[in-house]
Amino acid sequence: MPGATVSREVRARAAELRRQLNHHNYLYFVLDAPEISDFDYDQLLRELQALESAYPQLRTKDSPTQRVGAGLATPFRKVRHLSPMRSLANAFTETDVEQFRDRVRRAMGSDADLVAELKMDGLAVSITYSRGELRQGATRGDGETGEEITANVRAVGEIPGSLAPPGASDSGTLEIRGEVYMPKEVLAGLNRTRSELGMELYANCRNAAAGSLRQLDPEVTRSRHLRAFFYSCDPPPPGVHSQFELLAWLEGAGLPVNPERRLLPGGRGVVELLADWQARRHLLPYEIDGVVLKVDRLAWQEELGADSRAPRWAVAYKFPPEERETRVLEIQVSVGRTGAVTPLAVLEPVLVAGSMVSHVTLHNEDQVKAKDVRVGDRVVIRKAGDVIPELVRVLSAGRTAASTEFRMPTRCPSCEAGLVREPGEAVTRCLNPLCPAQVQRGLEHMVSRGAIDIDRMGPAILAELVSRRLVRTPADLFRLSQSDLQQIPGMGERSSRQLVAAIQARRRPSLARFLYALGIRHVGERTAELLAAHFGTLEGLRSASVEELAAVGGVGPVLAGSVHHFVHSDGGAALIDQLLEAGVEPQGAARIEGPWRGLTLVLTGTLSRRSRAEAEAEIRALGGTSASSVSRKTTAVVAGASAGSKLATATRLGVPVLDEERFERWLVAPELDPAELVEERDSGQLHESLGFPSGEVQRGGKGTN
Ligand code: IVH
Repeated sequence: MPGATVSREVRARAAELRRQLNHHNYLYFVLDAPEISDFDYDQLLRELQALESAYPQLRTKDSPTQRVGAGLATPFRKVRHLSPMRSLANAFTETDVEQFRDRVRRAMGSDADLVAELKMDGLAVSITYSRGELRQGATRGDGETGEEITANVRAVGEIPGSLAPPGASDSGTLEIRGEVYMPKEVLAGLNRTRSELGMELYANCRNAAAGSLRQLDPEVTRSRHLRAFFYSCDPPPPGVHSQFELLAWLEGAGLPVNPERRLLPGGRGVVELLADWQARRHLLPYEIDGVVLKVDRLAWQEELGADSRAPRWAVAYKFPPEERETRVLEIQVSVGRTGAVTPLAVLEPVLVAGSMVSHVTLHNEDQVKAKDVRVGDRVVIRKAGDVIPELVRVLSAGRTAASTEFRMPTRCPSCEAGLVREPGEAVTRCLNPLCPAQVQRGLEHMVSRGAIDIDRMGPAILAELVSRRLVRTPADLFRLSQSDLQQIPGMGERSSRQLVAAIQARRRPSLARFLYALGIRHVGERTAELLAAHFGTLEGLRSASVEELAAVGGVGPVLAGSVHHFVHSDGGAALIDQLLEAGVEPQGAARIEGPWRGLTLVLTGTLSRRSRAEAEAEIRALGGTSASSVSRKTTAVVAGASAGSKLATATRLGVPVLDEERFERWLVAPELDPAELVEERDSGQLHESLGFPSGEVQRGGKGTN
């Protein structure tokens, strides 16, 4: 029903859904950091699909509904595997492994030869080759159906597009399975870059491999330097009768196969082999989480079969997380940007899961108490998810009589202000906004990549600037001159000039970056984006009530309270004003596609039916821009009651003025072609089309036409 009037609510809702879906797509496919469940994503997508099918004129070419198959929550096509991709039964102890061998012995009448392969911690893939040519790549998915990722599989350099002989001569279809993984070094480099960009880090090689393979753009996958090892082929090639032979065949066909494989006749030596890998696993350039033991003979595999979940001919021995003992040398407390004071154990350095650990966070006072960690204690350390070190427990046996319980300091280690712990809160805080540690952290946050992003402004330079009192507040950064910077040791003519240029180049950050940079509690990059997209201008956000803030999709009451409190607090308001005074100009949020694209409206006076922030949000939801000052480029001024100087400027410049009633009507039926409207405005006809004679100005909110 093209031409049918679409209500303002529906338009705004569709725009909001598109924005949210795009945002979640980005989080999922680009950042690999989804914030909502697949189920919740589907709900949003379905709602948008329903709106678009009821009002086809709402459907834009770039709508998230058009970029993914109908009903699919991901942009990847689903494909059914030729045979199910099963998982493996786990063994956690030697006994579990012995039981597996017993079961095989009972079923087959004698000990089986076993192949031991490393259990790669990556992402299972299934690749189909037809007549030796790569036809399709798929993820494991739920085991029955996976996602089609052929282009991305081709972007893994090691995976051949065509098989070498003997694979090339196979005239049928082969389903080859294996694991795509990211080497440890590649992950370290990737996380370095992501950290510089202020992006969330990948917790481990597996997540990174999965995220890199499930990219919309295969070039991104290519840039991630993924690798692969293959271990199965269905049907098995002619003449291949064992797993060990199969691995050699795959290798011969040009596929990468892990060289760390062993054939154990009669399964002998398996216990030693497992212990050996457990000790040496961290020497490998990639992550493994165990060893897979497989019955070697394919005929036996066939006979043993599988249950619905896993084959009976294989077992995965999983390594326990590595734990190490060390000693607590000291318990320090560090002060964060928001004043949170965190206890930190300084350790006698110890090698855990492949890297040296010398510090471990103790989170807060209660955690230290619960574990009763004391200086001098022997403690057990392990890595959570094999990445972040954690203190598991204290070995109290070694404790000396002199040891005393940890006490949270009562004064800030940086500024000596009294520390406060609110009832019901776990966190102890320093509330002094001028606390040097907080100022330093705040500055580090302000210049970080996700915020104002000032290249070259590292923590060492900031510390120098703070200690020399050249910078007391973030706004001072924007006032730094070359001669100020030259006071820092090692800062010459050239580098100070470059740094000043780098600072000036960031004077006009996006509103989202600006909001994030303020360091408001609970406001991360995502929330900052949501707020910026909703309010569009800093003024809009500053004048919003707690209820208006809480009404923003994705912003809950706690967050709304935190933002409201910040912008109205003496310190927060002063920080914003100081930044503006120093010449920082946050730029309005990205424009939304909509019928008012290209139109700039200025609101003035008081509207009776909606708040200023709501009206601004409505304008943006329709694709228009809400500006704060009137110029010749302004499409129209919306004048509420007691409109003042903006109305006068509009009159002087000949900019059309809408009263509130007309504005309301236009919001409900915004079908006027924006191009026409702009043209009309330029030719002076807009007044007529909007209902008043050219040149006539509607005054206040009561004007009639
Ligand atoms: S064999 C039917 N071999 O572990 C058995 N799996 O927990 C097919 N994996 O989904 C799996 N390295 O992603 C096998 N050398 C290896 C492996 C391996 C890693 C993964 C694979 C599988 C999961 C099962």
